[in-house]
Amino acid sequence: MYYINEDIVNLNRIFDQEGRDGYIRMDLNENPVGLSQEFIDEVLSNVTPELLAKYPEQLEFTTKLAEFIGVQIENICLVNGSAEGIRNVIQAYSRPGGKVLSVTPSYAMYDVYCNMYGRNSVHVEYDENLNMNIDDFINAIQDDIDLVIVLNPNNPVGDVYTYEEMDQIVEACKEHECNLLIDEAYFYFYPNSFIKYALENDHVLLTRTFSKVFSLAGTRLGYVVGKPNDIEIVQKLCTPHNINAFGMLFAQAIIEKEGMIDDLVEKQLNGKHHLIDRLTEKGYIVSAKEGNFIFIKPKIVDASEIVEKMKYEKKILIKVYKNVPELGDCLRVSIGESDVMDKFIEALEDIDR
Ligand SMILES: Cc1ncc(COP(=O)(O)O)c(C=O)c1O
Repeated sequence: MYYINEDIVNLNRIFDQEGRDGYIRMDLNENPVGLSQEFIDEVLSNVTPELLAKYPEQLEFTTKLAEFIGVQIENICLVNGSAEGIRNVIQAYSRPGGKVLSVTPSYAMYDVYCNMYGRNSVHVEYDENLNMNIDDFINAIQDDIDLVIVLNPNNPVGDVYTYEEMDQIVEACKEHECNLLIDEAYFYFYPNSFIKYALENDHVLLTRTFSKVFSLAGTRLGYVVGKPNDIEIVQKLCTPHNINAFGMLFAQAIIEKEGMIDDLVEKQLNGKHHLIDRLTEKGYIVSAKEGNFIFIKPKIVDASEIVEKMKYEKKILIKVYKNVPELGDCLRVSIGESDVMDKFIEALEDIDR
């Protein structure tokens, strides 16, 4: 009898992220401008026939990365975007029918992977003011949970956990023998990291990405950090040669270029503050916490209509978020450098009147 996995047949996936060339992309938390063409040309001058012809080797880049973030190479597994790392962790660290605990709203792929592998995702919800009651979250960490997922800062809320709170989460996970995944996709926009927990504890893994501050979403590169035993587990789930040579080439060039990361962070965070200041001056209500994204409450025009008009009239991609506490239906906008933010503000003023 033919067999198809029912979990996959019933899986709801959204593949709507095509045709975004030529737009100002402020919908998926990428860098809307990207790296300079000059830097790109410089890196591309190192592309050789050999680099393209051979299966990519990871050791050189992993060594540089380990040195850069202050860990051993055994603590790192490179992944094809941190989304792959998250999938590997969910697959290996929770059982079929087991429970995976996270918060809602949060990054949508946690639930997609849970459904993909027949896990039950359980959530602690943010309250009506978009605050997370940390005691509720810690109390939800019980013996029947296989994996706890913590996103710091949270996407889309932008809030963060303190070290004290993370101590409590890690303690609760140990007490109830739950695995822990810490997603730091927005690290650098918010520099307090929980990496030490992944380096010091078994069953604690942390994911990061080159898609955000590093502006390399197109190369699909991320990494998982953990103790060597855990990293070996995550590594086993990777496809052969899962990392492409271009991703490593560019990421290494950024790491090695003195001051480049600080510059990228500074430009993007300056753009964020510029956007918030200008919108506030113009009377907009803005909710901006950590991360490279903010919520904006429209003044007059419905949020969904603004998103449509931004796309078709202004060639700017943003997202609508419905029923956001205190804001109602509002715009979720990824930040970028100040010049791009000005284009967005001008377009918003033209539409929302
Ligand atoms: C919270 C969070 N985690 C992980 C990812 C995945 O990023 P990537 O697969 O590009 O590394 C994203 C992407 O937007 C995200 O928002």
